[in-house]
Amino acid sequence: MALLSLQDVSVTYLSGGKRVHAINHVSLDVEKGESLGIVGESGSGKTTLIMAVLRLLPPGRARVEGTAELEGRDLFQMSDQELSTVRWEQMSVVFQKAMNALSPVHRIGKFLSDIYRLHRPDVNKRDARRAVEELLILVNLPPRVFNLYPHELSGGMMQRVSIAMSLLFTPRLLIMDEATTALDVVTQNQILDEIVELEERMDITRVMITHDISVVAGTCKNVAVLYAGSLLEFGPVDEVLVEPMHPYTKGLIESFPTFEAEEREPLVSIGGSLPDLVELPQGCVFAPRCKYACDLCRQKTPEMRSFGGKRKAACHFAGGEFHE
Ligand SMILES: Nc1ncnc2c1ncn2[C@@H]1O[C@H](COP(=O)(O)OP(=O)(O)OP(=O)(O)O)[C@@H](O)[C@H]1O
Ligand code: SF4
Ligand SMILES: [Mg+2]
Repeated sequence: MALLSLQDVSVTYLSGGKRVHAINHVSLDVEKGESLGIVGESGSGKTTLIMAVLRLLPPGRARVEGTAELEGRDLFQMSDQELSTVRWEQMSVVFQKAMNALSPVHRIGKFLSDIYRLHRPDVNKRDARRAVEELLILVNLPPRVFNLYPHELSGGMMQRVSIAMSLLFTPRLLIMDEATTALDVVTQNQILDEIVELEERMDITRVMITHDISVVAGTCKNVAVLYAGSLLEFGPVDEVLVEPMHPYTKGLIESFPTFEAEEREPLVSIGGSLPDLVELPQGCVFAPRCKYACDLCRQKTPEMRSFGGKRKAACHFAGGEFHE
């Protein structure tokens, strides 16, 4: 059984009397021990997808369809009480703005200890303090951080605190949404290395959202490519990033200088922009920007097809010949 299984998940925002089709029929599995990177340009629906999984979208403003199972239990059907346990103890999340997850008026140590005791009422204050101190050490923070307020931390320290908080109950699934993007490259790499090591030690599987493919290449087993709310390609990182099957994945990779020796254009080099999510184009969602688009592409939406192993792509010509 997959650790996390999404089947036909769609999310529609209701905004100003319009329907914004932010996620469209996404199905994917996250297997235990196989961290997944979700990539796609800004606005492709990455945050929306995980917010749906975490059930953090406002019910009146977003309609969520499909199923999302965590170890066989449907997250969308769970009671709020069940969900609040699952959210901390089985899956947790680290967002880009860690500050928002902390309390500005509480010292770090007290805040984390209080959360710990809320879920573990039998644990006394001293043991909770010890558990939090151990966690802070685990994420390479000096012990003095226990007594600091959030505003006294650097950006990197803040992200580490946020990661420590997400590990309080050793969740099976750790979701990170651009959690290290705002940090300098050295700190980002350090934190990512630490996380990968912790995952192996603590048996945690990560779903990592980023628009930086190089981060996925270095830290994930599989990659999912999202575009305008649709999953366009999925597969092992060492296959997809070396030999992409979907023209959009190819464009993303070519826009990253790390993947080629010669200088490349920045990400925006894929001409055009995301389609209007209120009125998605007919046929292939990428057709308006695809240099291989033909009449078939503009009429018929390509199915997600399997190409052996875990590889999947949603393009009429994937696995065959492309003609400009
Ligand atoms: N509350 C909302 N109401 C209406 N539309 C929304 C809402 N939140 C997000 N959207 C739209 O949904 C689409 C997907 O947004 P989302 O934030 O999920 O993208 P993303 O891939 O996480 O982008 P980024 O890389 O910039 O974080 C965008 O077009 C966005 O404008
Ligand atoms: S289906 Fe057609 S338009 Fe879509 S990615 Fe493939 S070739 Fe391009
Ligand atoms: Mg986002």
